[in-house]
Amino acid sequence: MTYMIENICCIGAGYVGGPTMAVLAEKCPNIKVNVVDLDINRIKLWNSKNVNEIPIFEPGLAEIVSKIRDKNLFFSNNIEESIKEADLIFISVNTPTKIKGLGANYASDLKWIESSARQVAKFAIGHTIVVEKSTVPVRTAELIKTILNSSEDFNLNNKNKYKKTFSVISSPEFLAEGNAIKDLRNPDRVLIGGEDKDSIDKLCNIYENWIPKEKILVTNLWSSELSKLTANAFLAQRISSINSISAICEKTGAEIGEVSAAIGSDSRIGPKFLSSSPGFGGSCFKKDILNLVYLCRYYGLDVAAEYWENVIRINNWQKDRISKIIVDKFFGTITGKKIALFGFSFKANTNDTRESASIDIANNLIDNGAKLVIHDPRVSQKQIEFDLKQSPSIFDQFQESIWVYEEDIMKAVKLADAIVILTEWDYYRNLNWKLIIKGMRKPSWIFDTRGLISKETLKDLEINFWSLGNGCK
Ligand code: NAD
Ligand code: UGA
Repeated sequence: MTYMIENICCIGAGYVGGPTMAVLAEKCPNIKVNVVDLDINRIKLWNSKNVNEIPIFEPGLAEIVSKIRDKNLFFSNNIEESIKEADLIFISVNTPTKIKGLGANYASDLKWIESSARQVAKFAIGHTIVVEKSTVPVRTAELIKTILNSSEDFNLNNKNKYKKTFSVISSPEFLAEGNAIKDLRNPDRVLIGGEDKDSIDKLCNIYENWIPKEKILVTNLWSSELSKLTANAFLAQRISSINSISAICEKTGAEIGEVSAAIGSDSRIGPKFLSSSPGFGGSCFKKDILNLVYLCRYYGLDVAAEYWENVIRINNWQKDRISKIIVDKFFGTITGKKIALFGFSFKANTNDTRESASIDIANNLIDNGAKLVIHDPRVSQKQIEFDLKQSPSIFDQFQESIWVYEEDIMKAVKLADAIVILTEWDYYRNLNWKLIIKGMRKPSWIFDTRGLISKETLKDLEINFWSLGNGCK
């Protein structure tokens, strides 16, 4: 087949579909890109007149959207038309962990993948290349193929002369939130797995508009699917490894920053992903490892399953450990204490809070009776309400709010007993600590779980300071 790809549809206008297609459309002005979603409100936001109101905050994204939206990049709920028009379809829908049924709490819930495949099977015309962009368990392409191949051929009344045919390839996404546009414009690699050379070549041609050929890796379908789960498992494993060492540092007088730098300078280890933290969050690490654990068990590889499950165990332990340290520093009771949480997103430069360590730590502190004041430069009160499953208008027995949201950092810390830094927003690095500490209720504490402030910064100030992997100073 010699036709060129002129029309792309992406099913799923989320954190992956939106930014990925924005960069693809930016780099391929001759391709029309339709990003579609079932969610009417999400699409409405993507089409907001004010680009700062698009549903996903990613540095650089609003600029691209304002430049090319409605030129060759379109957002709509018109799934049927967009599939009909498309030569190539990316499936970028959510694949969360199953919450019930067989494999509950481990396996991926593929119902959105399945419904996307059914929509493609129903509406596609002629030959369509279907690309799995979502992160999926190994051999999901088989499920997609089975659904597509059971679609009915064109009916005779249809003007289209061709029989419906499909080619399924895998091209998982490796972008990290907060850095998505940079990652998409200049990825370490693009991975394409498949059997049909023609379809692989067509996808390679698209990527080659801006990515050097040598960065495009081609593998078989199953290696591509498994590589995505493995990459996330390895990244998460590094965080759990360094977090386990942060606890040993606190016991021994070693300093976590120094240990990270020392081991990271070994070129075999490398310096990235060695920052200790309150635990990894984000929508994917946990679910992808759980999925890997499920696959291991499914294939009878129980020891491998246990090995990977421990990465999550350490992550949970880290969150509990930090919560317990905070309570301990107040001699075992934080009832009624005002604690300001700095940061609710799971990492800096994103408004995403999915699986954020802040959620578990906030809940632990609330359970222990603390009154929280939550600040985040990008996360809304509404989102925090959703994550904590309670509104700030819920009062305790003393008619006080269990938590409140505060945009003004100086108000957030006024008469606070403690500040807990949970997200590494740059904004928190350059605060006027002298002024902040002056307004706190004494004796007060700062708990820094991101290594954001040095003990020198707080020298001579009337504050108790605990930092992760260093202990008290
Ligand atoms: P998301 O929840 O932000 O977006 C998915 C979107 O798909 C939703 O808006 C949903 O309404 C839509 N959708 C679901 N079924 C649909 C259907 N049948 N038709 C039309 N729309 C449908 O999810 P996300 O964060 O973009 O993740 C998508 C996939 O990419 C997941 O498999 C995830 O593991 C993977 N991934 C995510 C990231 C990330 O940074 N978030 C990075 C790499 C890979
Ligand atoms: C991660 C991967 O980095 C991406 O390659 C992958 O595409 C994506 O998951 C996915 O599949 O969803 P993301 O979750 O967006 O990206 O962000 P990361 O930068 O990986 O951070 C994940 C979590 O690990 C954050 O909570 C972050 O604070 C934490 N982290 C990261 C650390 O605790 N220490 C580090 O050194 C690095």
